[in-house]
Amino acid sequence: MRYKVTVVGAGNVGATAAQRLAEKGYCDVVLVDIVEGIPQGKALDLLHSGPVENYDSRIVGTNGYEETAGSDIVVITAGLPRKPGMSRDDLLMKNYEIVAGVTREVAKRSPNAFLIVVSNPLDAMAQTAMKVSGFPRERVIGMAGILDSARFRAFIAMELKVSVDNIQALVLGGHGDTMVPLPRFTTVAGVPITELLPKETIDRLVKRTRDGGAEIVAFLKTGSAYYAPSSGAVEMVDSILMDRKKILPCAAYLQGEYGINGLFVGVPVKLGAGGIEKVYEVKLSPEEKAMLNKSAAAVEELIEILKPKLS
Ligand SMILES: NC(=O)c1ccc[n+]([C@@H]2O[C@H](COP(=O)([O-])OP(=O)(O)OC[C@H]3O[C@@H](n4cnc5c(N)ncnc54)[C@H](O)[C@@H]3O)[C@@H](O)[C@H]2O)c1
Repeated sequence: MRYKVTVVGAGNVGATAAQRLAEKGYCDVVLVDIVEGIPQGKALDLLHSGPVENYDSRIVGTNGYEETAGSDIVVITAGLPRKPGMSRDDLLMKNYEIVAGVTREVAKRSPNAFLIVVSNPLDAMAQTAMKVSGFPRERVIGMAGILDSARFRAFIAMELKVSVDNIQALVLGGHGDTMVPLPRFTTVAGVPITELLPKETIDRLVKRTRDGGAEIVAFLKTGSAYYAPSSGAVEMVDSILMDRKKILPCAAYLQGEYGINGLFVGVPVKLGAGGIEKVYEVKLSPEEKAMLNKSAAAVEELIEILKPKLS
């Protein structure tokens, strides 16, 4: 039996994730969107790539949820993207309604699925999906840290003119302006960047990472980043379905780790066949801990706004 992955939202992130998944070749893909014709058209187009790209994944596009039944993983990308000048948090109420509705539909048809949430504001939408589905924390995971870390890695590689392959980076915290890149745990061929780059350069790269999404929005004008976000979501799918047990920075529901309780915050987790198999607690300096707390507080503010809906 081949795996079945549903991607809800056939926009930029969703359709690109569907393409990346189809190209993996080990799962069939169901692409769902509210707009008539879009998921059907994109699914057919992806199917037509198969003979050339050498995959025979089945790809179905639909406006309903019947075809999603029995999915192993559901990637939720439905929502409105950020427009220029719009913060992720402005999207809160609009995307809450969308993500809650989608979660209800997929959870009842795929009660054993893992939910990978991409829609923004990420941490609050992951919390929405967990609450609405009633799934355990092992099976509801937000995608942000992989993207933020990948951006940091890319900027470091550009600065040092080395392969991104040699760079490991760790970005914790909420997905937003309060993300917490950790230069101390960011290495080039095993050497911490704090030994390779002056503080001012690291600060500049950290700032560019933090503003990475906005930089792209300013270029694109209509729409936001999707190649790298879809890569992040698919790396999570891959680590779970292939039981790779990769340690990846993901938004996870914390239950006391890092002194944070009852909130989704970006932390390193092990992703395998059991979903989140372990949450890693990295020893943070007081300054790093303060940044993480600030980041968690920003997530908490959004959860407060959603509280009447989430309780
Ligand atoms: N977590 C991250 O790091 C990250 C990165 C990039 C984008 N995002 C977020 O992902 C989401 C999607 O971004 P995008 O660029 O693909 O946007 P997009 O506008 O290209 O696609 C969104 C799609 O969702 C669909 N949709 C809306 N309501 C729906 C519903 N009720 N049911 C099913 N489909 C519905 C829309 O029709 C559209 O096709 C946004 O919320 C964006 O902010 C998150």
